[in-house]
Amino acid sequence: MAHLAIITQLEQKRDQARSGGGVARVEKQHERGKLTARERLEVLLDHDSFEEFDMFVEHRCLSFGMQDKQIAGDGVVVGSGMINGRLVFVFSQDFTVHGGSLSETNAKKICKIMDMAIQNGAPIIGLNDSGGARIQEGVDSLAGYAEIFKRNVLASGVVPQISVIMGPCAGGAVYSPALTDFTIMVRDSSYMFVTGPEVVKTVTHEHVTQEELGGASTHTRKTGVADLAFDNDIEALLEVRRLMNFLPSSNREKPPTIPTNDPADRVDLALNTLVPDHANKAYDMLELISSVADEGDFFQIQPEHAPNILIGFTRMEGATVGVVANQPMELAGCLDIDASKKAARFVRFCDAFNIPLLTLVDVPGFLPGTAQEHHGIIKHGAKLIYAYAEATVPKITLITRKAYGGAYIVMSSKNLRGDINFAWPSAEIAVMGPEGAVEIVFRGSVANDEERQTRIREYREMFASPFVAASRGYIDDVIRPQNTRWRICRALAMLRNKDVQNPWKKHDNLPL
Ligand code: HXC
Repeated sequence: MAHLAIITQLEQKRDQARSGGGVARVEKQHERGKLTARERLEVLLDHDSFEEFDMFVEHRCLSFGMQDKQIAGDGVVVGSGMINGRLVFVFSQDFTVHGGSLSETNAKKICKIMDMAIQNGAPIIGLNDSGGARIQEGVDSLAGYAEIFKRNVLASGVVPQISVIMGPCAGGAVYSPALTDFTIMVRDSSYMFVTGPEVVKTVTHEHVTQEELGGASTHTRKTGVADLAFDNDIEALLEVRRLMNFLPSSNREKPPTIPTNDPADRVDLALNTLVPDHANKAYDMLELISSVADEGDFFQIQPEHAPNILIGFTRMEGATVGVVANQPMELAGCLDIDASKKAARFVRFCDAFNIPLLTLVDVPGFLPGTAQEHHGIIKHGAKLIYAYAEATVPKITLITRKAYGGAYIVMSSKNLRGDINFAWPSAEIAVMGPEGAVEIVFRGSVANDEERQTRIREYREMFASPFVAASRGYIDDVIRPQNTRWRICRALAMLRNKDVQNPWKKHDNLPL
């Protein structure tokens, strides 16, 4: 009987913890179109796979009457679960309990699952919905943030870390997502800023809304702080599940292989006419990516930020491949500061997690102008060189059209340790475009426009082709566009056991 009473008490305590901040606050959460912390975990994780820890944890704060405001769990739900049968560790901040604010004990719960994730080689997924530091606790809460940041850094490159922003994320709290690999926001219900609109108004006299300052569109387009945004909680969580399918559980594993019915030797005749006859005409690089990918599936990251470069995951013969591609439809595919940073971080993620890289090149150069130079394109462009040169995963490059100057070198050229470098017959590999080259080489010596055109034609025939580069071995082969998928699949298969080590160092000093 006594035993039964204890069991009843246990279940009552569990029910109490599960009810979070109570019916009224849960209703308010729903009215805002948001799910609760536990409902979110139900969508994110495989059915019945959630193993919860620390359900009975309570805070230890005695200030401001907090001793009378105990809610089991203390504002965050933590534990492990499965995504498509693979282990992940999760925390989900509960806005209905003290606004999901971070207390000393709440932080300890998050740190516990982060430690377990690192030790067990499984990804960490954080669902953020919090008013920030628990104001009543002061420095204990700040110490808690520091403990989380420290673990974000130690876990970086060891296990994938994904942050989903599903409500407020303000103040120093933004730095945990910023330290993770991918940040996903929910449109209209999430925002991220270091200081909110009120403080901004006081300090700089600027009037700005929460949405303008740090809403999803600001961070997915302008700043690049967030990688993706979705319309609601459910869509965002289902896309996290899809993203997870491309990633390995840790740096000790290869990404999962998903069986495909798409033949590796599929030929695509449409690619033969993808590149327009006129050199300055744009075409959509996404068409090439869909053509080479298994079943045309491409999980694009940061589609709206620096759209002149495309990054994302695809699969070839079932195995994950990271794609980096210039997009001629935007800024003619030029590399600028944002594109360099976007691609460099992605290349480093792929290299850290054993994901081979496919680089598709059509780049007229770095974007000229004072705006770029004065904001440090030299340092930011160097990030991409650095990322490609240090990466030891298999790297395959295909030049479809332009590959000029420094931008040719940057985009995973042979001499930056590209493993297999292909070009289409339409490739133009040169120090610069024919028009610019003639302008400089024949400055003052060209009599008229007719002669200029002749010189341009001569230059194009001599240099603006893949064959000079191929004759030097900088291009391994010139391939027919229709054969692109199977040539890349073969190259990837050949490189599957590639083993290259970089020299020993404490750590590198990449140009931050
Ligand atoms: C304690 C908090 C809290 C916090 C919210 N609550 N934020 N409790 N500490 N930081 C509580 C509220 O008291 C309320 O409790 C419940 O959560 C819901 O809050 P509301 O204000 O009613 O909700 P809403 O109107 O939606 O406004 C949400 C909000 C607002 C914009 C987040 O609560 C807010 O401005 N909070 C303070 C944000 C803040 O300044 N945080 C500190 C940032 S500095 P009841 O019991 O009434 O439901 C920081 C430093 C971190 O975080 C540094 C790390 C290095």
